[in-house]
Amino acid sequence: MYVLYEIIFNVYACYTKGLMKHPQEKIFVAHTKEIVDPGSLSFHFEQENKQIEGFLLKQNAEYRAYLNRCPHTGVKLNWNPDVFFDLNREFIQCSMHGALFQPLDGLCIHGPCVNQSLQAFNIVIESGQIYLLLPC
Ligand code: FES
Repeated sequence: MYVLYEIIFNVYACYTKGLMKHPQEKIFVAHTKEIVDPGSLSFHFEQENKQIEGFLLKQNAEYRAYLNRCPHTGVKLNWNPDVFFDLNREFIQCSMHGALFQPLDGLCIHGPCVNQSLQAFNIVIESGQIYLLLPC
């Protein structure tokens, strides 16, 4: 019964946000000016009573957002809070075993999880503010 109530509540929440055609929740994560190019920034939010950790990237004026979880073992990728790039700021690098991921699509191109990908979030930028678009 509680699950049914939760589903009805979530559908209602999407409806009231005007997102019924493509139910999505919009979560603000950062202002575009908070990220240098190339650079990265951690963020977190709560979903279904779980803390979700992710990070934003900016490279060549392109923005991407990924879940902070390496596909090799599931650990967080970064050594430091907002540092996800390798030393050359060319690839995302896992701090555990050094896997390298392409910034624009999250594909691992070197290391123990080659051909696996980071989990990407859909994002939208409006008036200099970056939002995640999550399915409701
Ligand atoms: S945990 Fe990331 S490469 Fe092994």
